[in-house]
Amino acid sequence: MRITLKTKIWLTVLTIVLMFSFFSLFYFPAQQERYLLNNYNNEVQNLANTISLGVRIALTEENFEGVQTAMSFVKDDPRLLFVNLMTTDTVWNADHQSFTLKDSLLKTFPENAVIAPHTEESIIKKRSGFVTDIMSGAIELGVTTDAISEGKKEIRLTSMLVSGVFLVIGIIIGFWLARNISVPVLALRDAANKVGDGDLTQRVITNSDDEIGELAEAFNNMVVDLAKAREELRQANLNLESTNEALHATVTDLKAAQEQLIQAEKMASLGQLTAGIAHEINNPINFVTANIQPLKDDLDDILKIIQCYEKVVREKGLENDFQEVEKYKNDAQIEFTLKEVNDLLRGIEDGAMRTSEIVKGLRNFSRLDQNVYKKANLNENLDSTLTLLHSSYKNRIEIIREFEEIDEVECFPGKINQVFMNILSNAIQAISGEGTITIRTKQEGDLVKISIRDSGAGMSEEVRKKIFDPFFTTKDVGKGTGLGLSISFGIIQKHHGEIDVFSAPGKGTEFVIKLPSKQETED
Ligand SMILES: Nc1ncnc2c1ncn2[C@@H]1O[C@H](COP(=O)(O)OP(=O)(O)O)[C@@H](O)[C@H]1O
Ligand SMILES: [Mg+2]
Repeated sequence: MRITLKTKIWLTVLTIVLMFSFFSLFYFPAQQERYLLNNYNNEVQNLANTISLGVRIALTEENFEGVQTAMSFVKDDPRLLFVNLMTTDTVWNADHQSFTLKDSLLKTFPENAVIAPHTEESIIKKRSGFVTDIMSGAIELGVTTDAISEGKKEIRLTSMLVSGVFLVIGIIIGFWLARNISVPVLALRDAANKVGDGDLTQRVITNSDDEIGELAEAFNNMVVDLAKAREELRQANLNLESTNEALHATVTDLKAAQEQLIQAEKMASLGQLTAGIAHEINNPINFVTANIQPLKDDLDDILKIIQCYEKVVREKGLENDFQEVEKYKNDAQIEFTLKEVNDLLRGIEDGAMRTSEIVKGLRNFSRLDQNVYKKANLNENLDSTLTLLHSSYKNRIEIIREFEEIDEVECFPGKINQVFMNILSNAIQAISGEGTITIRTKQEGDLVKISIRDSGAGMSEEVRKKIFDPFFTTKDVGKGTGLGLSISFGIIQKHHGEIDVFSAPGKGTEFVIKLPSKQETED
């Protein structure tokens, strides 16, 4: 069982008070009464002795009136019941060998004193013997114990009063102790509990300067220190958190930088490869394109000769002589053959033209110019990128080119091509089935503005916020790396430009790039 401090204080106080009360209620009056009785007995004995002495002297002088006077010595004492004068006679037995003493009453005072209604208990009798020549005897003094009863009553009353006072004082002390010890201790306990629960605004109010007051002050100081320590800890935690965040950001940047490096490296080697291939193809395809026109001219000449032959045969009526040739002409369907040759030539011309376009695009795209700014007409760069992408949009997507006259831009053209490539590939991928891609270029002060808008699926706000994050992709594994736009963003930043995106689901997407035509610093 748990006994509270308050209970303990009250138990202690009550025990002490009860002990005192018991003492003053029982032990103290009993002691007093015994003392009172002793005194009374002694006093009565002394009186008896005095009377006895007076009687002896009077008898010795044979003054019988003196005997009377001595016996009436205590006549005014209110306690007096009687004074008896006894004679003691020696009564010998028959053979005179032994004797007994026998008292007999000689005289009483007051005469014929009435003892009733006093009982044995309410009377105290004391004897005092004397011996004279005339007679031996004793004085027997009887007094009432009424006075003692009175005294006892008084003592009891007093002790009850005293124990009552003790009780009251005890209760007062109990309350005082409870107030001065238990209440502040309880307040301290409650405050400590609240502090334990995390409420550091708790303070204990005290106005005593005893140990409890000191305890309260120490407690308050402790709470203040605790609050300070906790605040410091919180601050330290915050610092740690922000350091952590910075670290995290650094790691993310590093990752992005690493990816860019990898990508740049890839592009560089790819560029080298394409440049090599483009160079190798360029010469032979040049032969083809350069030779088509002379071939056409030659064919025209041959055609003209044939027509001349036909004309001569018709005019000179030589049909019979040329029957064999005519048959051969009909067999070979010369009309059709000539038309086919023309078509074939046009096809070759077309193919050769397109091949040289592609080669030009490849060469443009893969220029190894990473470290030096070069002036480039971005309209041309857009065209070469479109050429490279031709197969992925032909017959499906209409490309609307609204190119204006724009300044040449100081840039790393290969890198800018990479940006166009990424954005255009995304636009083409965003359009399922048929659609349009509108490309606009425009001069705005010192800035060249390029807008690429597609009629594709568009994207949600949530996706839009993340598209420049490295590795963010909504495409299936193998279809998207999530790197294109993050690399493009880095490239545009490096060119001190801006890239913005406007999009909504189902409404298509527009990327707007602004590039300064002159670079301030070479980096
Ligand atoms: N024109 C666009 N239309 C709709 N969504 C686009 C477009 N361009 C980019 N996105 C979104 O941005 C994401 C990131 O693009 P990107 O960095 O090029 O990575 P990837 O193309 O490899 O997914 C794409 O997965 C796509 O969800
Ligand atoms: Mg992409």
